[in-house]
Order: sequence, then C-alpha cells, then structure tokens
Amino acid sequence: MAQSPFHGKRIGITGARGALGAALTRCFRAAGAHVIGFTHGSKPPEQADGPHRWVSWSCGDEVSLDADLAEIDVLVLNHGINPQGGQSPEVINQALEINTLSSWRLMQRFEAISRASPQGDAREVWINTSEAEIQPAVSPVYELTKRMLGQLVSIRGAVLDASGREALILRKLVLGPFRSSLNPIGVMGADFVAAQVLRQASWGFRLVIVTPNPLTYVLMPLTELGRRVYSRILSRPDP
Ligand SMILES: NC(=O)c1ccc[n+]([C@@H]2O[C@H](COP(=O)([O-])OP(=O)(O)OC[C@H]3O[C@@H](n4cnc5c(N)ncnc54)[C@H](OP(=O)(O)O)[C@@H]3O)[C@@H](O)[C@H]2O)c1
Repeated sequence: MAQSPFHGKRIGITGARGALGAALTRCFRAAGAHVIGFTHGSKPPEQADGPHRWVSWSCGDEVSLDADLAEIDVLVLNHGINPQGGQSPEVINQALEINTLSSWRLMQRFEAISRASPQGDAREVWINTSEAEIQPAVSPVYELTKRMLGQLVSIRGAVLDASGREALILRKLVLGPFRSSLNPIGVMGADFVAAQVLRQASWGFRLVIVTPNPLTYVLMPLTELGRRVYSRILSRPDP
C-alpha cells in the first residue's frame, strides 16, 4: 500500500481538544504523522490516540507560539466558537477575535516563519472556515466571522517567495454540519469528516469540501473564483 503523504510530517492543530481536532489528530497519527495539539485550556493527560505533545495558547498571544510554529510542516487552524443567536457587541468582539482574527494572525506568523526558513516541501496552512461562509447556519455572528476569515484566505490566494515559488500552501476546509459541542445536531460524524479532509488534501485539493449539501459543491468554487478574480483585478503593488 502507498505511504500516506502525511507520514513523518509534523502537524499542528488548534482546537485540538474539540471534536474535529481530536478526529483529525487520530487520522494524522494513523497516517504516521507527528501531531502537536494547541489548546486554549489546560493540557489534557497524554493519550495513545491524542497529540504527541500539547501546547497551551490563548487568542491574542499568537506571538508566543513562534518557536512551536517553526517546528510544524502543516498548521491546521481549527479552533472556533458558535455564539448561536448572540449578537451583542461583546459577543461579536469575542467571535471576531476567536473565529477570525486569531487565525488571521497565526496565518501571518506562519507565513513569516515559512519565508524565513524555506523547506524542500513548502509548509501548509489549512483554514477551517465552514459552509457558513456562504450558507445560512442559523447563527448570524458565526456566519459573519467565518465569511470574513474565508474572504481573507481568498484574497491572500497564493503565497509566493521572491523567485515566484510557493512559500506557503493554503488549503481551505469548507465543512457541513457534524456533531460536536459546537453543533450537537450535526448530521455527519467528526471522524468521517476528518478522514475526508485528509483524503482530499492528499489529492492536492486546495478547496476541501465535506458536506451533504450539494449546493455547496457548486456555490463554493464559484464564490472562491469570483473573489480571486475580483481581488486580482483590483490588486495594486504596496506603496
Ligand atoms: N460542528 C460543525 O457543524 C462545524 C461545521 C463547519 C465548520 N466547523 C468548524 O470546525 C471547527 C471545529 O469545531 P467543532 O465542531 O469540532 O467544535 P468543538 O468540539 O467545540 O471544538 C472547537 C474547539 O475550539 C477551541 N476553542 C474554543 N474556544 C476557544 C478560545 N476562546 N480560544 C481558542 N480556542 C478555542 C476549543 O479547543 P481547545 O480546548 O483545544 O482549545 C474547542 O474544543 C470550528 O472552527 C468550527 O467553526 C464546525
């Protein structure tokens, strides 16, 4: 049997204690990868199918993670909250900070590290938005924060170095409803979703879509294409 492309890779996963974080960890470990779990809570005890190592972090303190990020080949930005119907300024601020801005900052730090220490195989960052990026999720603030993160990734497009080589590979994960504490009534299981994510990424897909909703398979690539073309047409060199 062919070896997994993730065999021997060093993987960092945020939201590692959550349902998808734990399922991704199991899948990566089964593929022979070394997993570092980033958690905003206390470090759990070591488990045979859990991360090889835990790192504690908190949103707003991304700069303290540079040494850990430098060890990683693939960073999966997976943490998130769903405020459901909450729409107060405090709730919006918190959701923007956790769902959007912390991932955006981590992307930028990881990009800087990737540029400073290029490797044979380009490093990768996988960004877990949601199909809430383009479809209702019965949670207006969740939709807003995931759409904003998704648009930032679309605008970023390809990350090239001075020679035109890709310095950092971006993959976007667009997932439908799966069961977790964030969505207890999701129709898919986190293990199924995680396995599909790894499979599509191993095929080289930059837009990884796992959902029972057929509309997303049509609308998401079109949305992504539209955003890329729009931002490229209006792109100007930095002053
Ligand atoms: N469930 C769905 O239907 C669905 C659908 C599409 C996309 N998603 C996305 O998938 C990702 C994983 O969600 P999940 O469904 O697996 O939910 P989950 O089980 O609730 O996991 C989310 C994890 O995010 C981390 N987190 C929560 N608050 C945080 C904070 N203040 N700062 C930093 N990290 C925090 C926690 O992990 P730690 O305790 O380890 O830090 C938490 O376990 C999320 O980004 C979610 O938006 C979910």
